Amino acid sequence: MPKVKFIADNIEVEAEEGKLLREVCQDNDMTIPFGCENGLCGTCLVSVKEGEDNLSEKTDIEKETLEAILAYEDQRLACQCKVQGDVTFDLD
Ligand code: FES
Repeated sequence: MPKVKFIADNIEVEAEEGKLLREVCQDNDMTIPFGCENGLCGTCLVSVKEGEDNLSEKTDIEKETLEAILAYEDQRLACQCKVQGDVTFDLD
C-alpha cells in the first residue's frame, strides 16, 4: 500500500490506493483544514514535497480553484486528489 507522509504532523501512514487524500487525512486525524470538500474553497491547499506523480490528475474544478488562488505548481487540493503511490506533503 502507498505510504502517505504529512510533514507538519510528522505522521506517516499506509493508505489504500485510489483513496482521496482528504480521506487519508481525516481518517488519521491530520491537521489539514477542510471546508467545502468539493474543490471550490481552497482551504485544503497542501504542498507536495515528494511523489507528485503518485497523485491523480487535477480535475477541472481543482485546476480552476488552484488558478484562482494563485497556487504554486507543487500545490494541490487534498480534497480532490487520489493517492496512487507514495506521497510526502506539507502545509506551506
Ligand atoms: S476543502 Fe474546499 S477545496 Fe478542498
